[in-house]
Amino acid sequence: RPPLRLALLGCGSVGSQVVRLLREQADDLTARVGAPIELVGVAVRRPELQRDADVPAHLLTTDAAGLVSRGDIDLVVEVIGGIEPSRSLILTALENGASVVTANKALLAEDGSTLFAAAEKAGRDLYYEAAVAGAIPILRPLRESLAGDKVRRVLGIVNGTTNFILDKMDTSGAGFTEALEEAQDLGYAEADPTADVEGYDAAAKAAILASLAFHTRVTAADVYREGISDVTASDVASAREMDSVVKLLAICELTDGPDGPSVSARVHPAMIPRSHPLASVREAYNAVFVESEAAGQLMFYGPGAGGAPTASAVLGDLVTVARNRLMDVRGAGESAYAQCEVLPMGST
Ligand code: HSE
Repeated sequence: RPPLRLALLGCGSVGSQVVRLLREQADDLTARVGAPIELVGVAVRRPELQRDADVPAHLLTTDAAGLVSRGDIDLVVEVIGGIEPSRSLILTALENGASVVTANKALLAEDGSTLFAAAEKAGRDLYYEAAVAGAIPILRPLRESLAGDKVRRVLGIVNGTTNFILDKMDTSGAGFTEALEEAQDLGYAEADPTADVEGYDAAAKAAILASLAFHTRVTAADVYREGISDVTASDVASAREMDSVVKLLAICELTDGPDGPSVSARVHPAMIPRSHPLASVREAYNAVFVESEAAGQLMFYGPGAGGAPTASAVLGDLVTVARNRLMDVRGAGESAYAQCEVLPMGST
């Protein structure tokens, strides 16, 4: 079979790992997909800074818009992040007939419906397992495996940076600033850690989780948000005295009221007993705890960030959308959600 042609948008810590895995696992991927995946372009802002030996220099371009408009691209992976130019690039890619895999939680949480409608119109796939909790398979289980059940509640530790900071404060008695500096030194936190520390990153992920868990649409603006910058060493010590830990939780709930079901989503520091499975999530790991009517309690646990773990989730989606292309079908992806009933947001 002729190769499927892939364009990569962004080549930072995740993108360069995607390129490495594509090369190292080329034979396995070909067997699993049914055709080779050929990387034909890598869009970056500053090619002169791209020193990763895995990324062929002749594929680099600064013209991301030109790359996705070429018309001969089957698959696009977007790992640039942020709202623009990612949104325009994904829309152009879909309009030009490509299937898209993205890790862009901020964009999906702010304006997912525009992307899903575009994918629906184009008849192409849009997959984004890597957008929430890195390597942990959580979106497919919510969207597909649990589609016959009724999910009532999702509790998530979905930001590795803040979990590292709170864990450090718990184990060493460090204050917030000291723990944050250590997270930054280890490369967990961004140089500007606001999105992590103030809960914006977790709120975007909560919006995506709630949308899939409850088959509705929740945006980041619907999510109540409080970060961890006001959590003090003495708050953590008091929790410890009560045999509890402080965690930044994303809490998504479905509530039945007299006027029908409503949804709530919130992110805030919460004290949880050490006996709860989420209390054992240490360092920069993530976990998502799901309560559903028939299945009961489920926990998904693993590395929630980092180049290779996030690239693993991207590659999994890539195999799915590539197979779908060959079979000329669309996956469960988002087709059902473009027209889903939107449940009202209840109070948080
Ligand atoms: N900054 C995020 C975190 C990266 O710390 O979890 C993964 O989305």
